[in-house]
Amino acid sequence: MNPTVTDATRTAPDPVAGKPVVIRIHRQDGPHTASRVEEFSVPHRPNLNIIACLQWIAAHPVTTEGKQTTPPVWDSGCLEEVCGACTMLINGKVRQSCSALVDKLDQPITLEPMTKFPIVRDLYVDRSRLFNDLKKVKAWVPIDGTYDLGSGPPISQELQEERYPLSRCISCGCCLEACPQYTPSNHFVGAAVISQARLFNDHPTGKALKNERLEALMQEGGIADCGKSGNCVEVCPKQIPLLESIATVQRQATLYTITRFFSK
Ligand code: SF4
Ligand code: SF4
Ligand code: FES
Repeated sequence: MNPTVTDATRTAPDPVAGKPVVIRIHRQDGPHTASRVEEFSVPHRPNLNIIACLQWIAAHPVTTEGKQTTPPVWDSGCLEEVCGACTMLINGKVRQSCSALVDKLDQPITLEPMTKFPIVRDLYVDRSRLFNDLKKVKAWVPIDGTYDLGSGPPISQELQEERYPLSRCISCGCCLEACPQYTPSNHFVGAAVISQARLFNDHPTGKALKNERLEALMQEGGIADCGKSGNCVEVCPKQIPLLESIATVQRQATLYTITRFFSK
């Protein structure tokens, strides 16, 4: 322990701390139970983000009415907007809770789970559909093997620059939450998956699976289901050019259909 830090200085209020932060959390104990809203008051400190508030509430699960409750449940991993796990609706807007700074939000702050994925508990949803859809379109470069494949083919600077923004996808689900065509009852794969198909279709080795990806995207729930509203681009935290990806994959699918017709 630092000997110069006394008990008094450790417990003294932060001179730049503001008023307590009021947070309303939509709670739901399980997938089939009724939901409720609980309000909490969190001590303010500079640079406080929503995850830090949730951590504080989890350690002090008492509502503003003084009622003892259970610690809220949410998903998170990296705490630096890389893993995409902490996505939720913050004041009605879908975004990552680890990068949402309290001082930039109107209060009281409302936290809700995403609506397009099955709820597990409280703010924690099951994003398996997204990962299963990535599997459906084989969103990978097929290099697994037990022998040395040698170095890969060179990729031009131009292609690297085109692919890099697409590779920044963190599978957060924001684009799916905002998409009017993506609903819990249909099979639309959504913008993230289409964009990942483009990323791997454009890779010199990944293109070995290009036709299989396009076949998958021409099935029910594929690219034809996109209504081109553009909501996905508006909410993507990584500014991925999703409409450009959708247009590119649509062109690839059309070309593939024509080629397949004439090669019969
Ligand atoms: S353009 Fe519109 S319909 Fe298509 S994926 Fe994006 S949000 Fe959904
Ligand atoms: S495309 Fe953007 S919004 Fe959609 S999952 Fe990837 S990072 Fe998230
Ligand atoms: S915890 Fe990983 S993106 Fe927020």
